[in-house]
Amino acid sequence: MLMNYNSFAVMMNLLGAILLVSIASVANALTKNDFPSHFLFGASTSAYQVEGAADEDGRKPSIWDTFAHAGNGGLYKGDGDIACDQYHKYKDDVKLMAQMGLDAYRFSISWSRLFPDGKGPINPKGLEYYNNLINELASQGIQAHVTLYHWDLPQALEDEYGGWINRRVIKDFTAYADVCFREFGDRVKHWTTVNEGNVCSIGGYDAGFLPPQRCSSSSVSNCSKGNSSTEPYLVTHHMLLAHASAARLYRTKYKAKQRGFIGFNLLVFGFVPLTNTSEDIIAAQRARDFYIGWFLNPFIFGVYPDSMKKNVGSRLPYFTIKESNLVKGSIDFLGINFYYALYIKNNPKSLQKKDRDYTADMAVELKSYTGNDTTKDEVPVIPWILEGLLQSLKNDYGDFPIYIHENGQQTRRNSSLDDWSRVKCMHEYIGSLLDMLRNGLNIKGYFVWSFLDVFELLGGYEASYGLYYIDLKDPTLTRQPKLSSVWYSNFLNNRTIDSKIFMKIEENSSISNTPLMHTAT
Ligand SMILES: *[C@@H]1O[C@H](CO)[C@@H](O)[C@H](O)[C@H]1NC(C)=O
Ligand SMILES: *[C@@H]1O[C@H](CO)[C@@H](O)[C@H](O)[C@H]1NC(C)=O
Ligand SMILES: *[C@@H]1O[C@H](CO)[C@@H](O)[C@H](O)[C@H]1NC(C)=O
Ligand SMILES: *[C@@H]1O[C@H](CO)[C@@H](O)[C@H](O)[C@H]1NC(C)=O
Ligand SMILES: *[C@@H]1O[C@H](CO)[C@@H](O)[C@H](O)[C@H]1NC(C)=O
Ligand SMILES: *[C@@H]1O[C@H](CO)[C@@H](O)[C@H](O)[C@H]1NC(C)=O
Ligand SMILES: *[C@@H]1O[C@H](CO)[C@@H](O)[C@H](O)[C@H]1NC(C)=O
Repeated sequence: MLMNYNSFAVMMNLLGAILLVSIASVANALTKNDFPSHFLFGASTSAYQVEGAADEDGRKPSIWDTFAHAGNGGLYKGDGDIACDQYHKYKDDVKLMAQMGLDAYRFSISWSRLFPDGKGPINPKGLEYYNNLINELASQGIQAHVTLYHWDLPQALEDEYGGWINRRVIKDFTAYADVCFREFGDRVKHWTTVNEGNVCSIGGYDAGFLPPQRCSSSSVSNCSKGNSSTEPYLVTHHMLLAHASAARLYRTKYKAKQRGFIGFNLLVFGFVPLTNTSEDIIAAQRARDFYIGWFLNPFIFGVYPDSMKKNVGSRLPYFTIKESNLVKGSIDFLGINFYYALYIKNNPKSLQKKDRDYTADMAVELKSYTGNDTTKDEVPVIPWILEGLLQSLKNDYGDFPIYIHENGQQTRRNSSLDDWSRVKCMHEYIGSLLDMLRNGLNIKGYFVWSFLDVFELLGGYEASYGLYYIDLKDPTLTRQPKLSSVWYSNFLNNRTIDSKIFMKIEENSSISNTPLMHTAT
């Protein structure tokens, strides 16, 4: 574009005006005070992504250590050997959380830190670490919301019997959960058995781009073993039974005394029909069945969705009456992670494929939905789509409690500390939560992903979602506050926000903004 100096100056003034408008819109009076007092605000991480100390104090590898050390399937570089070193810095991190004003911290326990071989003797140093972390949180009045499985199966169990594809995992998971309830349940009241169970099955056993990288040769990845026609369904079946078995144990052995809650977590999308033809509307419903109903129908009704039974046929495992009763009613809440929406187009042709996998069984074409105003790196900010999804789940499954376990904005790891796009995202979602509560949705809490810039499981150290930046070349791994941490802290402390703070931070912007190669989808 040709531009003379004058029009350039006009444009800069315009940009200045736009900047002021956006400051005004995020610096308005929204504070935690506007929310019911029992509504929780927190931030999230997971063990392999923050702890580091991968080889320390008796911890043994999980399938994620193995995958990362083998090069992450070539998607990106890096591993969680050191990550944020939270294993050694947890006291400082909890101090930051307290200063920020978090009600709750969502983190996960590394199964292979507590049980290096997945079962057998407890590692006393692992036990000590989680006791220390939980005590530190309790001393600051911060609730611990604990995930038992955030994709990091002990490698020993993968080697011994194939991990989640084998029913034996149900017993080992239940024994692991038992110890967690027994040792930590006096202080931990919110347990999530599995994080993003759906992505675990699809990424690890259908597409094969996540560990343990099992898929058929017809799939998108090169896997040395696996069967995308059957294993995703088998793995989900075992996950549902492992969850239900742990939930039953909690309810019979611990609940009366500990008074806690057990939930399960899914990555959920908005499902937007590409056109308003009835084919695409039905296809969008089917996509919701495959991604969400796959788990939620068993949890609420004790059976898989009809659309899955129809399209998957005999490859879909069945529940015995006893199992169905065990799974039905086994969640006290659903944790959801929300970032994206998908356009859905009906695609019946995929049902004619010879080697059908999960994706072919769904019989839809997926296209990512890019809201109004996003750049390539950013996730679209689409709170109205989240609300639509939650209302549809409430209509179809009833009124159970929901925690938003993850939501946030992606930037390049090295981009500016002035993470405006993240502030805008949090402001819009948190503002919309107020409407969602008024409109009768049973949402109990909101956790930002992520507290720190972590080792991203889908983007390594190139992608970032954190409220704090960590320069990986800095030997002290100092946590540097981003604008988003200032905004969240003001919000949580009921301070209406002085726009001068934003101006000042804006002045200090230094790190350049280059486009991200691998977005965390
Ligand atoms: C902010 O407001 C909420 C809701 O009224 C209240 O529970 C909380 O204690 C307040 N926080 C601070 C730091 O004043
Ligand atoms: C996957 O398993 C099914 C059922 O056992 C079998 O019919 C099919 O041939 C297997 N596919 C591959 C690619 O191994
Ligand atoms: C799979 O492996 C083949 C042969 O080594 C290679 O040519 C191909 O590029 C690989 N595909 C992917 C998606 O990695
Ligand atoms: C949706 O359907 C209405 C009629 O019900 C039609 O007027 C409109 O053009 C359709 N829109 C799209 C995007 O297909
Ligand atoms: C743009 O944003 C408005 C809400 O501000 C929403 O209603 C509309 O659907 C959005 N458009 C797209 C394409 O997402
Ligand atoms: C971040 O920036 C530093 C210094 O500019 C550079 O050396 C490093 O490779 C960058 N890291 C990533 C993940 O882009
Ligand atoms: C901006 O940078 C200066 C110099 O490093 C520092 O003293 C100041 O605290 C920074 N301001 C903000 C708001 O981060």
